[in-house]
Amino acid sequence: MKLKTKKHWENVYKTKSPKEVSWFQESPELSMNLINRFAQSKNSALIDVGGGASRLIDQLLLEGFNNPTVLDISEYALNHSKERLGKNKSQVNWVIQDIKEFTIHTKFDIWHDRALFHFLNSQDEKKSYLKNLDLSLKKGGVAILFTFSEDGPLKCSGLEITRYDESSMVSLFGPNYKCIHFQKETHLTPANKKQHFNIWVFKKIK
Ligand SMILES: C[S@@+](CC[C@H](N)C(=O)[O-])C[C@H]1O[C@@H](n2cnc3c(N)ncnc32)[C@H](O)[C@@H]1O
Repeated sequence: MKLKTKKHWENVYKTKSPKEVSWFQESPELSMNLINRFAQSKNSALIDVGGGASRLIDQLLLEGFNNPTVLDISEYALNHSKERLGKNKSQVNWVIQDIKEFTIHTKFDIWHDRALFHFLNSQDEKKSYLKNLDLSLKKGGVAILFTFSEDGPLKCSGLEITRYDESSMVSLFGPNYKCIHFQKETHLTPANKKQHFNIWVFKKIK
């Protein structure tokens, strides 16, 4: 694990409340809509990578998803969510890990990533992520990805990111994945700034 990355994110969640960070959403509606649309059932094995302190897990539990995992590099981030969930935290598999070194041997039906992948800027980092995604996703499973779009910000949390347009992500995923949905979203930060996102849903076909 790159200590610099880990240190950065632990520091973010140590020094800021989850409601202050630019990516905060009171209600992750679009993610929930997409999960409800593409998950086969509430028993689907689902992972939110780079889940941070997102309230997506609260909503998933509320709607009856009974096999959720939340992974993040920051222990502080996950602790925020555990505290919020109280006793319901035991219904979640929590993983503190760098996604590039992901070693879980579970196969998932749904992979959800809102704004993690775009922090991986080198070819090696992207390759590790995509390899781990491929190892963890069942054939027929779906990956839902949110990144800043071609006209989105160049940085997030003070870190450089890579922006993607529709076709560049489709090329990265390659022929084993079919893009079954694409859309755009404008996120309003707590400071009322607009951030443009692109969102893809890929189905693993091979
Ligand atoms: C912009 S935040 C988005 C958080 C959450 N998905 C949301 O929508 O609220 C990015 C998250 O990715 C996590 N992260 C960054 N790099 C990571 C890595 N290499 N492995 C795992 N998590 C990482 C950060 O700790 C942070 O929680």
